[in-house]
Amino acid sequence: MKRFVFALVAFAMVACSTAPQMTKEEKEAYKFADKLIEKMTLQEKLGQLQQFTPKKGVITGPAGEKRDVELAIRQGTVGSFLGVKTTDELNRLQKIAIEESRLGIPLIFGYDIIHGCRTIFPENLGMSCSWDIEAVEQYARIAAEETAAFGYHWTFSPMCDISADPRWGRVSEGAGEDPYLGAKIAAAMVRGYQGEDLSSDKTIAACIKHFAAYGAPQAGRDYHTVDMSEVMFRNRYLPPYKAAVKAGAVTVMSSFNDFMGVPASGNRWLMHDLLREELGFKGFVVSDWAAVHEMIAHGTAADGKDAAMQGMLAHLNMDMAHGDYITYGEELVKEGKVSEKTINELCREVLAVKYQLGLFDNPFKYGCHNHDEVMYRPENLQVAREVAAKSMVLLSNNGVLPLAEKTKIALIGPLADAPRDQIGAWQGFGEANHSVTIKKGLEDRFGAKNVIYVKGSDFRAPIKGGIEESVRAARKADVVVLSIGLGYKESGEATSLTEITVPEAQQALLDAVKKTGKKVVVLLGTGRAMDLRNEIEKADAVLVTWHGGTMEGPAVADLLSGDKNPSGHLTMSFPYCVGQAPIHYNMKTTGRPRKSPTNNAKYSSRYMYTPNEPLFPFGYGLSYSEFEYSDLQVLTPEVELGGEVKISVKVTNKGKYDGEDVAQLYVRDVVAETTRPMRELKGFERFSLKAGESKVITFEVPTADLAYCHRDLSFKADAGEFKVWVGADSTAELEGNFIIK
Ligand code: NOJ
Repeated sequence: MKRFVFALVAFAMVACSTAPQMTKEEKEAYKFADKLIEKMTLQEKLGQLQQFTPKKGVITGPAGEKRDVELAIRQGTVGSFLGVKTTDELNRLQKIAIEESRLGIPLIFGYDIIHGCRTIFPENLGMSCSWDIEAVEQYARIAAEETAAFGYHWTFSPMCDISADPRWGRVSEGAGEDPYLGAKIAAAMVRGYQGEDLSSDKTIAACIKHFAAYGAPQAGRDYHTVDMSEVMFRNRYLPPYKAAVKAGAVTVMSSFNDFMGVPASGNRWLMHDLLREELGFKGFVVSDWAAVHEMIAHGTAADGKDAAMQGMLAHLNMDMAHGDYITYGEELVKEGKVSEKTINELCREVLAVKYQLGLFDNPFKYGCHNHDEVMYRPENLQVAREVAAKSMVLLSNNGVLPLAEKTKIALIGPLADAPRDQIGAWQGFGEANHSVTIKKGLEDRFGAKNVIYVKGSDFRAPIKGGIEESVRAARKADVVVLSIGLGYKESGEATSLTEITVPEAQQALLDAVKKTGKKVVVLLGTGRAMDLRNEIEKADAVLVTWHGGTMEGPAVADLLSGDKNPSGHLTMSFPYCVGQAPIHYNMKTTGRPRKSPTNNAKYSSRYMYTPNEPLFPFGYGLSYSEFEYSDLQVLTPEVELGGEVKISVKVTNKGKYDGEDVAQLYVRDVVAETTRPMRELKGFERFSLKAGESKVITFEVPTADLAYCHRDLSFKADAGEFKVWVGADSTAELEGNFIIK
């Protein structure tokens, strides 16, 4: 087999022509694919466009058709699998493909490695609150190495969907509400997963998902309709997908939703015109789970055959899970509804990615090296601990934190010792028995005898005697640490909620322990922004811990003890109440802006009994120190279009603790051709300062970063006046202005 492959490569080198803008690697891969396609039957080509889950695989959607997958591999009528559970099984299937199918074309195996493989990092929304791009890239590198060691070639990540709706459970998988930060994080994840060399056995293919605008389902209900203007789409939703394409991601996943009236998987404007012609994407697109077939339920395809035709004509390469491509492909070509040329194009992009991954060289190279040595490496667990600590966001603190040495802690709540919940909704190959829980973390740091643990309540139901036991524990302790919120089953796909408060059973715990008169620290575990009015009012401190991953416990201990200083900042506004959703800081003014947060003039854009502002804005996060921002200087008050705006600010650590913070720069285009947000993030820097120290931070903002979508849909920056603010969150008051000429 190997000889055959080498012969193909050699022949391919001298054969075909390629598009000018391709990289050397892409050209080589396309040549190889084109040559192989010449030898393939129509069924074999269609096979490359089909992905299945094996019988005992992980099911991540409604059950589809049952296939004899081994027969399909032998016949060459499947090219990829997702959700294979073990390395042995994966190698077994690959062996059948290589040895028993006519052309021996390797399979590509995909898996949902979303925030970790074995070593689990915080859920992505949490990770984004670190605002630490290098740390995010490091996460992806670690995840890639572990995943590749399992034998997988491909992760369905990064999720690049901007969302500002905490009712939608999948906000946990993204980077929050801001396109600028989202774009930086998406690109970092692609770099981390794919590395410099995609064919290395330590890197894997990334998958940009869910293309497109999946993060804006109506009323926050998963899979619901998405409808928005192209102006809105280009300004707020497109940037992270675009950045991930630019970073070189080799695959994309189409989204479940319709977009401008056409389901994404059959939407040629999205899959072809925008993605390939405009953004220059050269890899392949896989549908989301059964999303091709679901065009029937959307009401835009009559049957599976029609759905397959629409997907193929839209330039969607691979059909995940259902089977319409392989079932109807041949008929469609024979009837002239889809040309064989189209099938060749779709197939070549799939084969080219397999080639770039090095699978034609050695289909078993992933998963070869010592599995146990790669998983849970101590240095990687240490990174996970650091990232978890940087992700956690301190929302309030009346001085109770940090806790003194040997404080006696009553640790209460359903998330305090919840190894499965802390690794979140997509646990990859993470194992709950490797989770270091909050209980363990606090016991190790404060001494086991100083931690009295009581579960107290389930997530949504009281436990008999739980309140009484919690109160007894609280009375014996110096402080109560209440670990409450939502479990992993209320985070991620298909977990939309219309109430985003902490469930009543847990609120009852808070009320009961509060009555003892002890200080109460709330640790909020969640994958989404929540309405925390009750907790903020009653607790002495609130720290959002998210679902913090394998090392959540030690990370919590690092922060509660003051060994580390909290430095996370929200990337999703925490609303005042669910009725404000969707809510994001970068809203527009409207024609009737409210004059001030308390102005009640009738004909202005406001709610009657509820503030317009969230409870905690985007960018917000406290520290044990106090960082002062002063001396904002616009170093370039007038800049040519195409130039760079330079702004400096002095930051001073005025508190008693050394610490890190995130300086954020926001901009407003005062008069533009289309309506613009009140503020937009255009720069940020994580910095570290010792107590009492100051430094000057200089931001450099290329005017190209101020581009927006115009009336004719062109995306460019304009001359004009801009306001700028710098500070520790999106309500920063230190202001300046500049002009672009
Ligand atoms: C459905 C989800 O929407 C997607 O994110 C995931 O990658 C696929 N299922 C595969 O599990």
